[in-house]
Amino acid sequence: MNKITLRVLRFDPKCDPSPHFESYSVHVHDGARVLHALHAIHDDCDPTLTYRYCCGTGQCGSCAVRVNGEPVLACMEEARDGSTIEPLNIPVIKDLTVDLLPYIKSLPIICPETTQTATMPARDVVANLKPLRSCIGCMACVSICPALSVSDFVGPTAMRQEMRLSLDPRDTKDRAAEAVQAGLFRCTSCQACWKVCPKEIQIPGKAIEKLRELAHYKGHTLPRHAEVAALIRETGRSVTQTEPSFLELTAEVMEPHGPVKKTVGFFVGCMYNLRLPRTALDAIDVLRRNGVRVVIPHDQICCGSPLIRTGQTEYVGTLKARNIAAFTALGVDTVVTMCAGCGSTLKHDYETPFNVMDFSELLTETGIGSPAHLGITVTYHDPCHLARGQGITEQPRSILRKIADINEMPSICCGSGGGVRAGFPDEAAALGERRGIEIEKTGADMVVTCCPFCEFHIAGHTNKPVQHLATLLLKGYREKENPCP
Ligand code: SF4
Ligand code: SF4
Ligand code: FES
Repeated sequence: MNKITLRVLRFDPKCDPSPHFESYSVHVHDGARVLHALHAIHDDCDPTLTYRYCCGTGQCGSCAVRVNGEPVLACMEEARDGSTIEPLNIPVIKDLTVDLLPYIKSLPIICPETTQTATMPARDVVANLKPLRSCIGCMACVSICPALSVSDFVGPTAMRQEMRLSLDPRDTKDRAAEAVQAGLFRCTSCQACWKVCPKEIQIPGKAIEKLRELAHYKGHTLPRHAEVAALIRETGRSVTQTEPSFLELTAEVMEPHGPVKKTVGFFVGCMYNLRLPRTALDAIDVLRRNGVRVVIPHDQICCGSPLIRTGQTEYVGTLKARNIAAFTALGVDTVVTMCAGCGSTLKHDYETPFNVMDFSELLTETGIGSPAHLGITVTYHDPCHLARGQGITEQPRSILRKIADINEMPSICCGSGGGVRAGFPDEAAALGERRGIEIEKTGADMVVTCCPFCEFHIAGHTNKPVQHLATLLLKGYREKENPCP
């Protein structure tokens, strides 16, 4: 038996003025789960501790709690000494039990054909439904969804159920229209829901984007999203040009300073090409200083992310084909991008004959020359499409530590993704404000990130400068060459 100590958030709204932590030391067997530790606390320390469970084997979803801030199933999570146990971020009934009823009630139910013409789903339809059917109603996704927390969005698992029903031939309702009413376009594509889902249901990609596609074909696309799609069809770009573009300012091949360690293609993305070309030039400078030959096909265009995320997919095949042809024509086997959204799209929505890497991923792999430490403290904003979309969190931080001290903040969505900034500026602003508050709490001198959309949006919600990692790293190199007196 092992002795472990856990901090548990206790709260009885009937008699406690506010929630408070209690520490409990209990004995549990090797490999015990959090649920076993809660049983031990209940049996040996305090029988008034309230928590839910049923199956004890990850099947019923009733035991979901937060362990060290992350939503998990208590019966599946190992009990570790020093852990903090809190209820899901949902209104509390008592201690670790939360009020699931409003979310259960919001789940759409099948509306079956009442005549004899209804058909049973065929085998392949059942197979299609399966990934969307495995929900165990734990509401971990609901508890973490940023869109739901600031708007009337019904939430991820209700969207999952809408998509599941839309695939069922026995159902008679217009599920796309119902989903639009329930806030389909309010999802920021942050990926948080499926990263905490114990059944790994890919709600953003397998339900929300698919419902948006159905909604698009039924004429429900938001006017602002349709404008972006028209711009992409007309110009190949999702934003308009306001200054000389990155592609106009660069040669097709940029040789490194010194011996060639690696040759890569560079995918610039619409924002860095047309709105923030200086930042993209900083990235090229950093790559060249680190022995990377950069090949930049000038006929590359928008990756298609704004169309895929908003369900306007009819033109995406053309964009994909043109981008793949542009890079394969120049014979590169690795394509690097500094935009989190483009990177996630190229990795997950394309089938590329080349390897795709984020800027920070490449530099971590090849190794970088030492920059000067700038003597500042920064906070790092994890772009959703880099942290959750590509699993890249440590690489940018390991580079950053060479140039600055880092004060961490929670990894939350800034509100700019999924077409929400264009479609629902009120929601994007509410989430941006929340990001701004967390930035302020860190006391950092500036914010660093790796996504142009985050960079733009966060800059509107903080007084601190916001920069791409590449720009700060270049500053570190320049400072080393010409130290400030
Ligand atoms: S992707 Fe993010 S905003 Fe969209 S439903 Fe999931 S948690 Fe909510
Ligand atoms: S979709 Fe996943 S996280 Fe959400 S309620 Fe169902 S099982 Fe839980
Ligand atoms: S007790 Fe059923 S999933 Fe944990």
